[in-house]
Parts: sequence; structure tokens; C-alpha cells
Amino acid sequence: MQTGDGGVTPGRSPRGNESGSRLDRWLDSYAARTRGMTASEIRALFAVASRPEVVSLAGGMPYLQALPLDVVGRSLAKLVAERGAVALQYGSGQGDPGLRERILDVMAPNRVVAHPDDIVVTTGSQQALDLVTRIFVDPGDVVVAEAPSYVGALGVFRSYQADVVHVPMDADGLQPEALTQTLTDLKRAGRRVKLLYTVPNHHNPAGVSLSAARRPEIVRIAQQFGVLILEDDPYGLLGFDGDPLPALHSLNPEGVIYLGSFSKTFAPGFRVGWAVAPHAIREKLVLASEASILCPSSFSQLAVCSYLEDHDWKHQVGVFRDLYRERRDATLSALDDMLPSAEWNVPNGGFYVWLKLPGGLDAKAMLPRAVTQRVAYVPGTAFYADDQGLTHLRLSYCYPTPERIREGIRRLASVVDAEMEIQSTFGATGMHHGQSPNRRVYAPSPDLT
Ligand SMILES: Cc1ncc(COP(=O)(O)O)c(C=O)c1O
Repeated sequence: MQTGDGGVTPGRSPRGNESGSRLDRWLDSYAARTRGMTASEIRALFAVASRPEVVSLAGGMPYLQALPLDVVGRSLAKLVAERGAVALQYGSGQGDPGLRERILDVMAPNRVVAHPDDIVVTTGSQQALDLVTRIFVDPGDVVVAEAPSYVGALGVFRSYQADVVHVPMDADGLQPEALTQTLTDLKRAGRRVKLLYTVPNHHNPAGVSLSAARRPEIVRIAQQFGVLILEDDPYGLLGFDGDPLPALHSLNPEGVIYLGSFSKTFAPGFRVGWAVAPHAIREKLVLASEASILCPSSFSQLAVCSYLEDHDWKHQVGVFRDLYRERRDATLSALDDMLPSAEWNVPNGGFYVWLKLPGGLDAKAMLPRAVTQRVAYVPGTAFYADDQGLTHLRLSYCYPTPERIREGIRRLASVVDAEMEIQSTFGATGMHHGQSPNRRVYAPSPDLT
């Protein structure tokens, strides 16, 4: 084993390592669509943020310790013993009919009404995002998306060379007037808008939900401009107050593709999500999925199906809701106590607080110092296809315990205070990141050196 630059690390082939770190001899051969494929800020962060000494408020990982893992384990063993020949076999490209039937119950609280035939099971909702974009978006087509937007969706849109145009949100979600204006401008400019991508419930990363009053408005505007809505709803059952609001799909099933997922309400490791789409679109989705993966994992689908059948999954969703509510509260009270100079939203569900730093501080430039102080977050710029988001960051409260959250925010606040001090001493554009004053303030923590 070699170490050092270009060296070999265990588990990686020398060739793979070389292509990552040295000149890529195949550079001229890549398809044009790969130009938009760059590592997201989250990905680059994971290696450091996953160290135990770092309080990671970065990744949106569900707290799986709250699942009855022994029960799940027994159910998996039973599945293989009793139905292994089916569970470990290829299956239908559209997904297991039994699971599709069960998914109807899961969507009922969000008032998505469908037939099992309308559902396409996918490898997480991420694959559904990919399939929908693949069948609709040609290079240069416009996808209208909230500002900010889920980083994984932006990655998909980029990989199909879509032009993402953002529309602002406020505390009630996507702004209808701004949407109308944007669609009018795009129409005048002769641009082809293929999709309106939206996360109406407990938005990632903004933490807000589209209000009940705005839902029919957004659907009407999309209809008026002939734009298909891509409704991405992995957090719909994770609201902290009251019943879920009706999905956009329930207001116009012919004009909306609805995406769901078991990642946040059960476990992301199974990689089971789904799309509900109008008939003709559904046919294309199945063909696209078969071309890509043949069929979703039979084992995962039957595992999820057994879980839904044999376990009180609604109770478990309630357990998750209570747990995340407590962590949301811990985050907000720690911010109130320790970082009152920042601004943030109050999420009514989901995993995320969207925070604006004081004094125009640059969240991306501050991140290395934060990690040195053993706290991680995702800089706001990751969630935009353009240059917005510099002074924002996303905090995920789903994984750390309330005590760790408080400690993480204490560390974050100390970094922000130090940055503010530097700014007041040297000015916003004066000696800034990486220069000597920082070294004094941010003595590297022993854990990370
Ligand atoms: C808004 C949104 N959509 C889609 C996904 C992808 O989820 P899945 O695990 O179902 O692929 C995520 C995951 O964080 C998400 O936050």
C-alpha cells in the first residue's frame, strides 16, 4: 500500500484512484452532459462530517435507531426463508403489485387517489426524479424550481442539461405572483418550460410548506401555462402540527407527477420510492426504468411490503414525528439562546432549518472554520443553480440527539462570533478567510489535526 498524493488507498483500484486525482486521459471522450456533473458540497463534506467528533448538522439522515430493528431483522429473515425464491428474483419493471397496492394507503393522508396501475416503483424517489427528467427534458429546456431547491434534484436537472430557473419562496412556500411572472417572462422569451419542480411539504432545505390557500393557485398557474408539475413529497407524513395538507396531485391528477419515498418514514437503505403519473407518462417511465435498471429490487420491495403489512407503520411514523419535533425544538431554542443575530424559519415538519447568517457572512467560506470547530452544515449555495445562497446555510436536526444539537449550535455560534469579530476589525472584504487573523481565532482543534 502506498500513501500520499496519487497513492493507493485500501479498497480502491490504482486505476480508479489515478483517474480521480491525475489528468483524465478520457477527458475528450465524455458526453457533453457530464459537464454539469460535479461533486455537490454535501458529498465533499461527508468524509469529514462523519467523523465522530464532528457534530454534523449537514446530512439529512433519518434517525434509524428509532426503528424496531430487531423486528425488522426477524421479518427480513422470515421473508428470505419463506419467500426467498421470489424476493431474490427479478421482478416487474413497474414494481411489485402488492407493494403498489399498499402504497395507496401510505398516500391516503395526503389525499393522493390513484390505482395501483398508476404507480411506478423506483429505486428511491431519486431514481424517479431521474426518470421524469429523462423522458421530458432535452438540453436547454427549462425546469422551473423553487429557490432554494433540493440539491439532488438540481444534480439530476444539470445532468440532463436543463436550464433551471428559480422562483422565490416565502414562509408560505412558492410565491404564486413570482411564478406567474417567471412563466410569463419565459414564454415571452420563447423558452420551453418542461417541468415545475416543487417540494410542497417541509421543504428541503427551506423547511417551509406551501400553504393550503396557495395550493390550488399554483396548480391553476401551471395549468394556465401548460406546465407539468413534478411534486416531490418525501416528508409529507412528517408534519409536526395537524393533518397533512392535500397534495397538488389531488387537485389535478392529469397535470401532476407525484413522487413518494419510504426513505424518511421507514429506511433509506431499502431504496424504495415511487411515482404516480398519468397513464401515458407512466408507460414511458416504466420503459425508461427498464432500460436503466430492468426492475427495482424485489427484495427491498417485499421487505417494505412485509413491514407495512406486519407492523403498525403509522405508529412508527408518529414515533419519528415526535422525535424530530423534539429535535426541531432543541435546534430553535439553541439558536434563540446562542445565535440570536441570525435569522431562521420555524419548520412545521421535516428535517431542516434554513438559516441566514448575520452581517452578510459567507457560509461557504466559513465552513472550513466550522469544521475545524467540529460542527458541519451545508452552505446555501448548494441549493441553487445560480449564484444565490451565499449567506445562507442548512441545518439538519434529524440525526443528532438534542444534546449534540445544542453543542453543535454552541460551536457554530462561536464560529459566527469570531467571523463577525474579524469582519468588524478588517471589514467584510478586508483580510478574510485563511489569513493570519483567522489562524489566531481558529486554532485547529486537536481532534482534526
Ligand atoms: C426533497 C427530496 N427529494 C428526494 C430525495 C431522495 O430520496 P430517496 O431516498 O427516496 O431517493 C430526498 C432525500 O433527501 C429529498 O430530500
